[in-house]
Amino acid sequence: MTRSNGMNDEITINGDRFTLYLSEERIKIRVKELAARINAEYRGKVPIFIGILNGSFIFFADLIREITIDCEVDFLKLSSYGDAKITSGQVRLLKDLNCQVTGRDIIVVEDVVDSGLSIEFMKEIVMKENPASLRVVTLLLKKSVAKVEFPIDYVGFEIPPEFVIGYGLDYAQKVRNLKAIYRIAPKS
Ligand code: IMP
Ligand code: MG
Repeated sequence: MTRSNGMNDEITINGDRFTLYLSEERIKIRVKELAARINAEYRGKVPIFIGILNGSFIFFADLIREITIDCEVDFLKLSSYGDAKITSGQVRLLKDLNCQVTGRDIIVVEDVVDSGLSIEFMKEIVMKENPASLRVVTLLLKKSVAKVEFPIDYVGFEIPPEFVIGYGLDYAQKVRNLKAIYRIAPKS
């Protein structure tokens, strides 16, 4: 895997070119805004934040540190893309919840809602434990492709249906550690 990173706004990975899309600074500002809304709307409650692994781990860590109300955390691990850029269309549970969901306010944290399959799958898992409430926060939403039958309550950025990487989002399991988000560039 080559990672040419000249001006920091263009990266080439295995011959695919990516350009800077959401800078570290923009993400930081938006994460603070989302957290501020959650802090206000959950005042007096003790929600459980459930991160969907692996993609959400960086967003999750940044978001949770802006949360000022009492809260707990847990994680679900779902399988997603495998090693490709297109979804397999199959979601599997790789790690179940360890917390007691019944009667609790649940906030699920996702990196990106694409087809919506993962979030639908997660909803089934959480709802069968009878939470007091369930809301979803996603950093990115590909609205034009997402076929989700329930509202996504907190959305960082609505983006076009393009492949994006960085800030937790992978390309064949790599580049999750990039600090900004990059979008795939058309082949020239
Ligand atoms: P969905 O089930 O199609 O909504 O896809 C959700 C999961 O696929 C996300 O949690 C990501 O892990 C992964 N995914 C979707 N779009 C992208 C992308 O553009 N880049 C990297 N991963 C993605
Ligand atoms: Mg994910």
